[in-house]
Amino acid sequence: MRADLERIRQAALADLERCEDEAALDQTRLRYLGRKGELTAVLRGMREVAAAERPAMGELANAVKTAVEERLGALRRRLADARQAKSLAEERLDVTLPGIRSAHGHLHPLTQVLDQITSIFAEMGFGVETGPEVEDDYHNFEALNIPRDHPARDMHDTFFVAEDRVLRTHTSPVQIRVMESRQPPLRVIAPGVVYRHDDDVTHSPNFLQVEGFFVDEAVTFGDLKGVLSEFVHAFFGPRIPLRFRPSFFPFTEPSAEVDIGCVMCAASGVLPDGSPCRVCKRSGWLEILGSGMIDPNVFRFVGYDPEKFSGFAFGLGVERLAMLKHGIGDIRLFYENDLRFLRQF
Ligand code: DAH
Repeated sequence: MRADLERIRQAALADLERCEDEAALDQTRLRYLGRKGELTAVLRGMREVAAAERPAMGELANAVKTAVEERLGALRRRLADARQAKSLAEERLDVTLPGIRSAHGHLHPLTQVLDQITSIFAEMGFGVETGPEVEDDYHNFEALNIPRDHPARDMHDTFFVAEDRVLRTHTSPVQIRVMESRQPPLRVIAPGVVYRHDDDVTHSPNFLQVEGFFVDEAVTFGDLKGVLSEFVHAFFGPRIPLRFRPSFFPFTEPSAEVDIGCVMCAASGVLPDGSPCRVCKRSGWLEILGSGMIDPNVFRFVGYDPEKFSGFAFGLGVERLAMLKHGIGDIRLFYENDLRFLRQF
């Protein structure tokens, strides 16, 4: 048995030296030390060894086992060290390379334009109010001096929800709601969604408006011109030409529409290539908002004394302003959420 043990020690150590990887080491271990391994097989013969020799034989067997295991451990560590040295040498990391930026979203162009409009008026002392999108006939029409069966109702392609309820066709009813609940002085803008039965490249069945109004004692048409000129210049730039053109709205008297010099043809009516400008229909002017001095009848509806108070009001379309500012020809682009479009803002 002693000879067998010595032979196993020699053979196992020699085999280990020839191993080139972890798998080979494992196999060698199994071959000698495993349950069906050679050392285990020899130890099974221990029963036949004379009792007096057994302790010495056992000691030798343990020494062989320990020697093989120690060598195995040393070789394993050597392989692991080599593997680490290799990966340190090969897998260099350039920490100065630029990172991968995570994608950031941003506000929708209409939200950006609406925020800009709001902050221009906020600087002039206007606060923000809102009202319901489902409105009653009284606030949407009647109290704005648009009686039932009045031809002015034809201007609004109204969606009816019930006999007396409409999707508001404009944000002007917020004027009525605010004046019903508060006393002048009032400086308010009311942004919000409005609805009209209308759908083409420049009209959407729902769109954003900003209503504004200023009520106090002795507010004049000069105040209207000053505030709206200030707004137009802040929004389109100080050099944009503008004009006030007489118009009609049932809830204002007198009324005026504000035009700006056409942004497509530089207010000339003719494009650089000599062709007529279709955006302003060759006039050189574009209408951007409606306005006027609040009609005394409106004040009577909300219980204000028209002899004591005066005020002006205006209403503008947010998509229209955004289209003119950015040269966008189709209103539907705002609602399709095509990233190629949105990323440009
Ligand atoms: N409400 C009008 C519309 O939607 C816009 C408007 C015009 C509002 C003149 C006003 C105004 O306050 O004075 O067509």
